[in-house]
Amino acid sequence: MASVLVASNRGPVSYVLGDDGSLDARRGGGGLVSGLSAVSAQDRLWVCAALGEGDREAVRRGVGEPGVRMLDIDPEAYADAYNGIANSVLWFLHHHLYDIPREPVFDAEFRRRWESYRSYNRAFAEALAAEADGGAAVLVQDYHLALVPGQLRALRPDLRIAHFSHTPWASPEYLRMLPQDIREELLWGMLGADELGFHTWGWASSFIDCASVDGADGTARGVRRSGDPWHGVEHRGRGGTKRHTRVRAYPLGVDGEELRRLAYRPEVDEKLAALRTETGGRKTIVRVDRTELSKNILRGLHAYRELLTTHPEWRDGVVHLASAYPSRQDLESYRAYTAAVTELADEINADFGTAAWQPVLVSVEDDFPRSLAAYRMADVALVNPVRDGMNLVAKEIPVVSEAGCALVLSTGAGAHEELKDDALTVNPFDVTETAEALHRALSMPPAERADRTKRLAAAATALPPQRWFLNQLEALEGLEP
Ligand code: G6P
Repeated sequence: MASVLVASNRGPVSYVLGDDGSLDARRGGGGLVSGLSAVSAQDRLWVCAALGEGDREAVRRGVGEPGVRMLDIDPEAYADAYNGIANSVLWFLHHHLYDIPREPVFDAEFRRRWESYRSYNRAFAEALAAEADGGAAVLVQDYHLALVPGQLRALRPDLRIAHFSHTPWASPEYLRMLPQDIREELLWGMLGADELGFHTWGWASSFIDCASVDGADGTARGVRRSGDPWHGVEHRGRGGTKRHTRVRAYPLGVDGEELRRLAYRPEVDEKLAALRTETGGRKTIVRVDRTELSKNILRGLHAYRELLTTHPEWRDGVVHLASAYPSRQDLESYRAYTAAVTELADEINADFGTAAWQPVLVSVEDDFPRSLAAYRMADVALVNPVRDGMNLVAKEIPVVSEAGCALVLSTGAGAHEELKDDALTVNPFDVTETAEALHRALSMPPAERADRTKRLAAAATALPPQRWFLNQLEALEGLEP
């Protein structure tokens, strides 16, 4: 039993099954891992899904980490919920990614997958209900588990429940594309929480705008009180009981000390030396992303090509280091996107490259030490998502960069709310504006660059993961039981 519980699809550890039957544990990092470490080990529990065969085998063998409970959900139901709904529907809605003439299509197949999504959420709600002490705090993460707060409240009304979205939240027009009963189920699921957290006030506000329901299961309406920190949604369920859900922004930042420690390890020094040789002392434009469709890597490459065309003085004077780790390769649209990134980079290299100079270096490996080395040597950081919950890369690069870097940042990144004063702002769809911003960034005097970087790094480290997590926990603990 635990008094602080976290639930997320991907857990802090995963297992790889070797050919000889051995299980190798891999521990992940990230904000939540470091946030939860602020709570004493005997009080906390992390509930997550078994993602692959290695994890399932670990559950069967009873292998595990203390404080982590992995749920072995039927693989087909899991694939429907994770790929079929979370990544193909909810992700697309929250990031406004649909190619509207073709998608979305909500048919019988969608309904079948939604059933799986519901039962996958239920498996989490049941596990949490079984493991939580009376009055425990439960912090549910992300769009994978949007129904958990409502399901859990029905099972255990004594718990204090929060949900945090690491993504944007859809605009009301986008969310209205969902069939009405499904949209309402999604909202009621979220409204089971006492508190809903988002990275920015913009995303929190979108949720409040969406949360207007007048249906068979009850009514809900968003409330904003001027001069009062309480904003949220008032609702009344079928039983008639009035409740409210507070909606707030908790902008996650980075742990500067820890990041610098990681960035100055010998293995990063080695990668840095190799990158310096590859770039031959030229200026660098650095970007690091998982190849998610929301990251806008293609328009970033188009902007770089336009820079080399309209400002030929940069030819042979700059190298674009683009790390694009493969992500969600089970989905055709992601595979096609990853291939398109590599093709466009190859085209730019073929059109502009010379025997001595390769304009773009793309790396598709998930190589964190190499990314840290690129952060250290970045003259310019390019972060131009179309829509992104926060984008921690925008915060990490200024913290690690050695000589200061100019940050070209799109309005689509949640981080833009906090970093806009010292970044060069671009509209993510405006390739010409992005090319001009790259030119300005490359031409920025070193003293101005260093000053801006100092202020960016201070803003980036303002709410490190432990504080971010504790603030949410304290808000829950301050609630009437
Ligand atoms: C992105 C989002 C996170 C989400 C993660 C899931 O990074 O910003 O909110 O948790 O994707 O990624 P996965 O690889 O587990 O599908």
